[in-house]
Formats: sequence, C-alpha cells, structure tokens
Amino acid sequence: MEVIICPDAEAVAQLAAAKVERVARDRGPEPVIGVATGSSPVALYDALAARVASGELDLSDAHAFALDEYVGLPPGHPESYAEVIRRTVTEPLRLDPARVHVPDGRAQDLEAAAAAYEDAIAAAGGVDVQILGIGSNGHVGFNEPTSSLASRTRIKTLTARTRFDNARFFASADEVPTHCLTQGLGTIMAAHEVVLVAQGDGKAEAIAGLVEGPVTAMVPGSVLQLQRRATVIVDEAAASGLRLADYYRETYERKPDWQRFRTGL
Ligand code: GLP
Repeated sequence: MEVIICPDAEAVAQLAAAKVERVARDRGPEPVIGVATGSSPVALYDALAARVASGELDLSDAHAFALDEYVGLPPGHPESYAEVIRRTVTEPLRLDPARVHVPDGRAQDLEAAAAAYEDAIAAAGGVDVQILGIGSNGHVGFNEPTSSLASRTRIKTLTARTRFDNARFFASADEVPTHCLTQGLGTIMAAHEVVLVAQGDGKAEAIAGLVEGPVTAMVPGSVLQLQRRATVIVDEAAASGLRLADYYRETYERKPDWQRFRTGL
C-alpha cells in the first residue's frame, strides 16, 4: 500500500486525478473507472473534469461503475446516487451516460439486481481503477463494519452512524434510507488498482485503522492491505493518526522520477 500525505485537500485532489489519469491511459482505450459518491472525491472529479475540458484527457469511451445506491428513493431524487453520479461525474467528465452504471436500488428483486451488477462489471472486463472515499467508521462503499471481507454486491443495512453522517444531504436523518445496494469488499478488491482519498480530521481514525491497524471486518477499508495496488492519498488532518507518517513522507520524497505522475500543481 502506498500512502501519500499531501499538504492540503486541493493537493489530494490533484494528485489523485493524476493517478487516475495515468491508470486510465495505461489501461485504455476503454478504461473502466469505479466511482464513489460522498464529498471526499468531489474535488478529484473537478480536477479530472478540468483535464477533460482542456482536451488533455478524453473519457468518452470510458465505462464507469458506481459503488453503491440507496434502496427505495424515488426516481430522480437529488440524493440518489444515480443523480449524484450524473451531476458530479457523468456530465463534468463528459462520460457516455449509456456506459455509466449505478446499482438499481428501486428493483423489485434486489438480489437479482445485485447479481446483474456483478455480471455487468465482469462483462466490461473488470474495474481498472476504483476511486474510494472512506466513512468515519471505516466503511468503503456501504460495506459497514462486520461486512464479509469477501462480499460481493448485495443489500446492506446502514449503521446509525452512517445515516447520521449522511443526514446532511437530506432534510432530516429520518429521510436517509435504511438500506442500500453496495459492491462488496470482494468486488472492490478485484479492481486492478484502487485510489482512496480522505481529507479532514474526522477521517483520521478510519485512515489509521485502514493503513496501520489489523485487517479486520470492524474496519472494512483495512481489507485494502491485501490489495496489490492500493494508493491512499490524504491531507495532513486525515493523516494525523498515522504512526509512520514520517516514513510515508520520506518514501514519497525519495520516489524515483520514473514512478511519479504529473500533478498539474
Ligand atoms: C458514503 C458513501 C461512501 C463514502 C463515504 C464517505 O456514505 N457510500 O462511498 O466514501 O460514505 O462519505 P464522505 O466522502 O462524504 O465523507
């Protein structure tokens, strides 16, 4: 696992965008990008959108798969992840909407929808680069603590903490759905490469557990310790619980030029 500590949130976004662009180019011509919702990757999407707008990057042939979706929100609900992905990813990155997939949280048969989602990812050849944020309780996607480390796309019940954290997007906590469809930890682990971003001291405990704690279903993101190509890009605040922070800084400073990617900073 590579851990990169950036001076601020903007640097996190720029570096993560550079990393995603590098993988998308290497794995092209039709890269498959796994996209996360939440506030953490928004600046990263903005940075990618700037590269698209400038003509430096063309993602019109890319495929995208969202990590998760709430169950039961009405079609077009602004906080459904289908809508969030359309607003923050599909349109600004100029993706082909027909190639952007979100689990169907309105399906009559949610188990069948989950299985169909796994099939669609496989039919696209698997995810080349998975973008991730992390919940304050260590969840990735909506894989809450005690999720099976081998899980695949399925229905999950959200924890009270996640519903509380996400209440800011709704009129009240009561309006946050109780259930979701989410890619499993096994699904996420199958991506060729993973880039996780986190900012702010509210994520410090989760990041410390993910990077330096034991691999445990109590911190679902810790399964990434078993991912061969996982990059964790954090700002100073999110890094504040890391015991080996100086080692990660030194490692990055000493990185040979050929391993670096252009950040635009
Ligand atoms: C959400 C999403 C996750 C996201 C996490 C953190 O509920 N399902 O994909 O990484 O929680 O959200 P935020 O980035 O807003 O802190």
